[in-house]
Amino acid sequence: MEAAMLASAVGFLLLAWVGASAGDEAREEAAVRALVARLLGPGPAANFSVSVERALAAESGLDTYSLSGGGGGAPVRVRGSTGVAAAAGLHRYLRDFCGCQVAWSGSQLHLPRPLPAVPGELTEATPNRYRYYQNVCTHSYSFVWWDWNRWEQEIDWMALNGINLALAWNGQEAIWERVYLALGLTQSEIDDYFAGPAFLAWERMGNLHTWGGPLSHSWHLKQLYLQHRILDRMRSFGMIPVLPAFAGHVPKAITRVFPQVNVTQLGSWGHFNCSYSCSFLLAPKDPVFPLVGSLFLWELTKEFGTDHIYGADTFNEMQPPSSEPAYLAAATTAVYEAMIAVDPSAVWLLQGWLFQHQPQFWGPAQISAVLGAVPRGRLLVLDLFAESQPVYVRTASFQGQPFIWCMLHNFGGNHGLFGALEAVNRGPEAARLFPNSTMVGTGMAPEGIGQNEVVYALMAELGWRKEPVPDLAAWVSSFADRRYGAVQQDAEAAWRLLLRSVYNCSGDACRGHNHSPLVKRPSLQMNTTVWYNRSDVFEAWRLLLTAAPNLTNSPAFRYDLLDVTRQAVQELVSLYYEEVKAAYMNKDLVPLLRAGGLLAYELLPALDVVLASDSHFLLGSWLDQAWAVAVSEAEAQLYEQNSRYQLTLWGPEGNILDYANKQLAGLVADYYQPRWCLFLEVLAHSLAQGIPFQQHQFDKNVFPLEQAFVLGKRRYPSQPQGDTVDLAKKIFLKYSPRGISGSL
Ligand SMILES: *[C@@H]1O[C@H](CO)[C@@H](O)[C@H](O)[C@H]1NC(C)=O
Ligand SMILES: *[C@@H]1O[C@H](CO)[C@@H](O)[C@H](O)[C@H]1NC(C)=O
Ligand SMILES: *[C@@H]1O[C@H](CO)[C@@H](O)[C@H](O)[C@H]1NC(C)=O
Ligand SMILES: *[C@@H]1O[C@H](CO)[C@@H](O)[C@H](O)[C@H]1NC(C)=O
Ligand SMILES: *[C@@H]1O[C@H](CO)[C@@H](O)[C@H](O)[C@H]1NC(C)=O
Ligand SMILES: *[C@@H]1O[C@H](CO)[C@@H](O)[C@H](O)[C@H]1NC(C)=O
Ligand SMILES: *[C@@H]1O[C@H](CO)[C@@H](O)[C@H](O)[C@H]1NC(C)=O
Ligand SMILES: *[C@@H]1O[C@H](CO)[C@@H](O)[C@H](O)[C@H]1NC(C)=O
Repeated sequence: MEAAMLASAVGFLLLAWVGASAGDEAREEAAVRALVARLLGPGPAANFSVSVERALAAESGLDTYSLSGGGGGAPVRVRGSTGVAAAAGLHRYLRDFCGCQVAWSGSQLHLPRPLPAVPGELTEATPNRYRYYQNVCTHSYSFVWWDWNRWEQEIDWMALNGINLALAWNGQEAIWERVYLALGLTQSEIDDYFAGPAFLAWERMGNLHTWGGPLSHSWHLKQLYLQHRILDRMRSFGMIPVLPAFAGHVPKAITRVFPQVNVTQLGSWGHFNCSYSCSFLLAPKDPVFPLVGSLFLWELTKEFGTDHIYGADTFNEMQPPSSEPAYLAAATTAVYEAMIAVDPSAVWLLQGWLFQHQPQFWGPAQISAVLGAVPRGRLLVLDLFAESQPVYVRTASFQGQPFIWCMLHNFGGNHGLFGALEAVNRGPEAARLFPNSTMVGTGMAPEGIGQNEVVYALMAELGWRKEPVPDLAAWVSSFADRRYGAVQQDAEAAWRLLLRSVYNCSGDACRGHNHSPLVKRPSLQMNTTVWYNRSDVFEAWRLLLTAAPNLTNSPAFRYDLLDVTRQAVQELVSLYYEEVKAAYMNKDLVPLLRAGGLLAYELLPALDVVLASDSHFLLGSWLDQAWAVAVSEAEAQLYEQNSRYQLTLWGPEGNILDYANKQLAGLVADYYQPRWCLFLEVLAHSLAQGIPFQQHQFDKNVFPLEQAFVLGKRRYPSQPQGDTVDLAKKIFLKYSPRGISGSL
């Protein structure tokens, strides 16, 4: 590869939005000032002076911030080359000088008085052009029911973490509806096509249609409203919102309107039958392709404006109809040409997931066909799961197309302590140093958020570091100090144990999914192997409880104590399950009933009660958010079912069973527990009667219980109840394995 070519590919992206004016500087400055006031309150905000000065970035054009002032009542001066850079500078000051933390689970913003001085001037530039955030799936697993208030908090979090590139995908179905109506589809054909809100991510990638739908008129209006506010806010910080573009999937009804149209029906996805999957893909050379693609982008950009980067995924987890490189190149070209027909400066953001998800299909010739079909610099690839299976290393840095090193981390928004901090820490630098690297950024692409914040804190920090964090053990200790707003040795020690165990995922057993028996349909085949020493989790649990009296006023501490208690219960379920299984194999009813009884009738109810003590772990909150979006009883019921399906069966027949599992109060009591009880009854019955356990029979019998939960109408509290510390301690005293209980 020619070095000059590389430089021009990457250079194109550097230039894509340079040229912002003085008016933008003032707008970004105002946006950051408003953020400071929202975050710290108007009083403390008065002690910060914020300015946005493009010149700070010098020739590199890379986002840069500069901190000075503070001490003895003097204001702290935060300057940034963009609004995002200034927000990231503010965050750096709060983190490193004030010991604060901004967090999903409860921010700790106790400012020292007077504000600490910054010695001299601290200037930092990011090593790469982009810090990216989101996965197409995050919109369904986490953002689906959000109102503006919640979006505002998230965009603040993004700005503070220096994110400057993110999807802005709300409201696209409202635009699609306009396009389809204009093309002559009927309203009922459109209603049949759209998936429900909790499943839109997969409709957008062509995996699904219809399931969980239809979308109402009021849904579209709300999403349009939200999208406008999201775009305004993102742009006001100088972030680049990525809009969607046409990837080639169309409703079947297109064949009624254009009887001659050349479409291919793709295969099924995710064990869904063709009533819900097997999308229709337009042939790349069909004249209807540019028509639909350009009409959509034209209508979309007319409504929302554009920042010239568009996301589209044609073959995400979808086997293309042909592996011929010529076909794959044509399919890629068609998407790109429909973009540039409307926006000649278009850059295509592609999730690189397909290449690593189906490596048997995507050989070198297939990958080359896609990467080579778009001019260099016009395809920006997200190396989506780079902390685990980087694709850039085996594609010569995406053959010269620019790419973003992304940490995926989480699948399905599962709870469960998990992370590969060592791999995350080293990954971006390794990608930057790769021969002829075309890396242009770092990113976070979790399927769901609101879990394992430590992993995201590290990744966000790496977006502004040139090298890895030198000592992760020291880093997690100070993470704990900032999180709780106090230096507490036991809490620090607990975090170091978590770092070397759950957060040092490596090897075969290391998975981003929570496969704990607790959240899975029970069977005798469950594998309880984990990559860490379980005693580390129990010991961290004990240490947090020891620290509790000094930290009870910290919401993040109570959240962590609950989360580690939850994890410990999950470990205990595995241990009891192994006892149950061994007793069953030995045909020994008494120990089976003892371990099984503890698991299903005591431990799970106790977990439900402790989860109920924190607002982040309530099924009631999740369902209430869905209800709040609805404008009628019928809509509320549809959204509630969308929510309940997503957490459990996923599809009508348990098509992707328990993939998006969570551990929420209400879900444990009314979904996981009943099926564990049934499992134990069936095992006990099998032993007593001498009839072998039949998994397929059990699956048949347990499905109605699972479905009853999904179709259930029970209301759950959306306010926490009980004291987390007391409840956690009770569980600890009762269940912590002997030998670790020590003194409390
Ligand atoms: C990197 O690019 C240079 C200049 O084009 C080339 O000579 C060299 O072989 C490339 N290195 C690798 C590892 O591809
Ligand atoms: C904040 O500013 C006020 C004056 O506006 C000053 O009285 C106060 O000391 C400052 N506080 C800190 C912490 O700098
Ligand atoms: C697909 O499954 C659904 C529900 O499970 C069923 O109602 C429908 O008839 C099935 N469709 C096809 C084409 O088999
Ligand atoms: C339809 O498109 C496919 C490729 O997408 C192509 O192989 C086929 O020849 C086309 N059929 C017609 C009738 O044009
Ligand atoms: C993580 O595990 C690796 C071995 O897989 C080890 O070399 C490293 O020291 C561990 N890191 C921590 C923080 O325990
Ligand atoms: C359980 O999973 C681990 C890690 O993937 C594997 O090494 C082990 O062989 C599995 N055990 C069984 C019984 O399948
Ligand atoms: C597992 O962790 C416990 C507690 O942290 C420790 O005492 C024990 O030595 C560890 N076991 C192994 C095999 O590392
Ligand atoms: C906990 O707080 C008490 C009283 O504030 C203090 O005396 C004690 O040293 C603290 N303990 C730890 C371990 O920090």
